[in-house]
Amino acid sequence: MSAPTSAIESVLVENRVFPPAEAVVKAARIGGMAAYEALCAEAERDFEGFWARLGREHVRWTKPFTRTLDESNAPFYQWFADGELNASANCLDKHIGTPVENKAAIVFEADDGAVTTVTYKELLARVSQFANALKAHGVQKGDRVLIYMPMTIEGVVAMQACARIGATHSVVFGGFSAKALNERIIDAGAVAVVTANYQMRGGKELPLKAIVDEGIAMGGCESIRNIFVYQRTSTACAMVEGRDKTFADALAGQSSECAPVAVGAEHPLFILYTSGSTGKPKGVQHSTGGYLLWAKLTMDWTFDLQPHDVFWCTADIGWITGHTYVAYGPLAAGATQVVFEGIPTFPHAGRFWQMIERHKVSIFYTAPTAIRSLIKAADSDEKVHPKNWDLSSLRILGSVGEPINPEAWMWYHRNVGGERCPIVDTFWQTETGGHVITPLPGATPLVPGSCTLPLPGIMAAIVDETGKDMPNGAGGMLVIKRPWPSMIRTIWGDPERFKKSYFPEEMGGHIYLAGDGAVRSADRGYFRITGRIDDVLNVSGHRMGTMEIESALVAKTDLVAEAAVVGRPDDLTGEAICAFVVLKRSRPTGEEAKQIANELRNWVAKEIGPIAKPKDIRFGENLPKTRSGKIMRRLLRSLAKGEAITQDTSTLENPAILGQLAETN
Ligand code: PRX
Repeated sequence: MSAPTSAIESVLVENRVFPPAEAVVKAARIGGMAAYEALCAEAERDFEGFWARLGREHVRWTKPFTRTLDESNAPFYQWFADGELNASANCLDKHIGTPVENKAAIVFEADDGAVTTVTYKELLARVSQFANALKAHGVQKGDRVLIYMPMTIEGVVAMQACARIGATHSVVFGGFSAKALNERIIDAGAVAVVTANYQMRGGKELPLKAIVDEGIAMGGCESIRNIFVYQRTSTACAMVEGRDKTFADALAGQSSECAPVAVGAEHPLFILYTSGSTGKPKGVQHSTGGYLLWAKLTMDWTFDLQPHDVFWCTADIGWITGHTYVAYGPLAAGATQVVFEGIPTFPHAGRFWQMIERHKVSIFYTAPTAIRSLIKAADSDEKVHPKNWDLSSLRILGSVGEPINPEAWMWYHRNVGGERCPIVDTFWQTETGGHVITPLPGATPLVPGSCTLPLPGIMAAIVDETGKDMPNGAGGMLVIKRPWPSMIRTIWGDPERFKKSYFPEEMGGHIYLAGDGAVRSADRGYFRITGRIDDVLNVSGHRMGTMEIESALVAKTDLVAEAAVVGRPDDLTGEAICAFVVLKRSRPTGEEAKQIANELRNWVAKEIGPIAKPKDIRFGENLPKTRSGKIMRRLLRSLAKGEAITQDTSTLENPAILGQLAETN
């Protein structure tokens, strides 16, 4: 990558452009903007023909599709609907008999630094054996299996094994609470849970199986017949006779060969719960064919994956990034990937850089929050600065999950990428299945803080509330005007909510509304995401609904009368959660307020998970409301930021309340 076109030192200047170096363009799959534009033109010219070609090239079908896109029941779009395939066969069996079969598929580095490697051939045997164990316990095609696992080879094995027998997995991040698990088991109607006795994070042993037990004990989980428990550590955990089995027991005597079950392209590969603008998380349902195409295609397009690459995506399998770019994409592409258990700051904040050197990582994909926390650590301790490690193996860097601020982009570019590696700032969502707006490393001139341009075939635009296009330079709502293969198919069990959430009637009912605000630059038409336009927060790249946290708070019925939650900007976590609470008792102050705030934080951790704990909790005798009783959230957002209230407060029922709510605890 060449030097910036101007040598302005201030990183706040966002108009610097970093074109890819000539050598990078020459070697890339999509080399240069002309190649990118040719693909876009092909998609414009013959939309279905374009996707049909890619669907045939990148996916192995047991029954080829004859129809590409079915729009007859929009927005319930169907892709490749009469084709049949198996996702696991596309990730594993496909490589057998090729030079990839003995290549390392996963290089697993545990929390304590211990490394385990499995080849493609070995991984296929392990997946097949676990698939046989699932079958032996009555799990069938179409059943839902809940996976609550730490980052392990076994976590990927469990997902792939479900895919192999046509069971639909629903992975729940290991940081979610018993209550969250209970709700997801019930909503999905899961027949089995795959978990571990404990997980290791930063040297600490944290329970998983005990949380599953607690979640099931909350009731309504009669659908669960089996629980498979991976022994991650040697500590014992409670086991229920007849229902619970260790991995070792479940696998004993099972063959390491299992024929993959062919499913229709639209068969649900997985459900993944994510936060929306109501209190109840949505089960985002993905297909098998279109999703798999995207996982494979974006490995090639966005990461320009080459046979010698060592790919490392730091995301947990509990999030969509860990689905597409750990469990499916790298395997479908035949890559060697690093899988990591632990946290970036243990045993020291140089862990990521040390791992890049140790495993000779060439493509590194992480979140801005991690980068910002490692910048802070390196600033205060030279010993954990990336310069202490040999990062010369790197050739491409990636960012995902939240907007990356230009300062963090520049630091990543200089100190990790050695001013040589393109940074792909990938914009996407649980609902999009994979990248939708992103630079291509061998083509797109980069602008710090911009996710640049849509992938070929992604008809992204910025519109007003009626669906009218906004000119470049003017902000609006991000939409995708045509369907794409890896898009969300429905919300599990709630098709009406699917239509309402994503395909507004005012825009005609068939255009996908992303829920983000965005603006295109006046000069290049590059997209920059300005943040969510709904009641969804992004805290450390984790998606959280304000209503979800409010529901959790008011569920503490002995204490809380009313609660309103808003986000405020935070230098480290992007956004921070700020809760305004009215108690059923008198308004506390001083030490007592601090103590009750802590009690409420722990309560939210129990209701949802530690990631949803409000950073800031404030108490008032009431919330700022209009005379008609509507909470004025704009005012709360200003209060959360510590701003002076300049808005008109004349319609407020109770203006005196603002003073109370400005006080932090
Ligand atoms: O607000 C956008 C933000 O993350 C949201 C999606 O969150 P989730 O479904 O959890 O998926 C995260 C991983 C793909 C989006 O609506 N977001 C994601 N990537 C970016 C981003 N915001 C700005 N720039 C990005 N690159």
